[in-house]
Amino acid sequence: MKIIFIGPPGSGKGTQAKRLASHFAIPHISTGDMLREAVSEGTELGRQAAPIMASGALVSDDLMIGIINDRLAKGDAAKGFILDGFPRTLVQAEKLDGLVGNGKEALRVLQLLVPDDAIVRRITMRRTCAQCGAIYHLENNPPANDSVCDRCGAEVIARADDTEEAVRRRLEAFHRQTLPVATYYRSKSVLREVDGIGPVDEVFERIEQSLTS
Ligand code: AP5
Repeated sequence: MKIIFIGPPGSGKGTQAKRLASHFAIPHISTGDMLREAVSEGTELGRQAAPIMASGALVSDDLMIGIINDRLAKGDAAKGFILDGFPRTLVQAEKLDGLVGNGKEALRVLQLLVPDDAIVRRITMRRTCAQCGAIYHLENNPPANDSVCDRCGAEVIARADDTEEAVRRRLEAFHRQTLPVATYYRSKSVLREVDGIGPVDEVFERIEQSLTS
């Protein structure tokens, strides 16, 4: 199973990818999580990426392709993986073809459809565990104990790029740079569109159905 999630910021890629990864027992590879880890560790990559991410723009293709190249070479990715946040540009998609192929048997691409007006509300209400990355929503799925992660007990925080201004810029980047990636995969007949509106369990069921149909 090699699965790619495409969708606007806040469409539920991380929420659904984590579930699907545990369902299929394959790694969830989130380029956003990898970058945030680099930022919190203060690595050279993190120093370069931090201001770009905070502004809502995309990190350079060269950096991202290098990261994914190294990650997919690790042993746990051999039996399959779920990519969340990559590819986000046509250059990244074409590079990924060279790594994993793009035939129907090689890839399944799921595009989560959520309208822009629902996105800002989801993102400004999101809280994320600073340690394990668990995702919460202050209304739909709050942590049981205020700002403490249910899973690991660490602090639950708002992401630096979850301001309304950065979200608007991320949406603009999605429409301009990432929607052409969906078109690219549609032309190769590997794209499935999934309605991302509704309770998380229902969206997950739709994803399962789209993978088996
Ligand atoms: P990244 O971390 O990938 O952010 P994103 O694409 O903007 O997506 P999000 O993580 O914001 O949202 P999501 O779709 O995962 O939604 P979630 O499940 O959390 O990237 C961050 C930055 O890193 C980029 O802006 C860029 O700078 C850089 N970057 C990363 N990859 C890159 C690449 N390949 N190339 C260049 N730059 C790159 O859900 C959101 C909220 O909604 C949560 O609160 C959740 O609880 C709630 N929710 C989820 N599902 C539902 C539902 N069904 N109903 C109601 N609420 C829901």
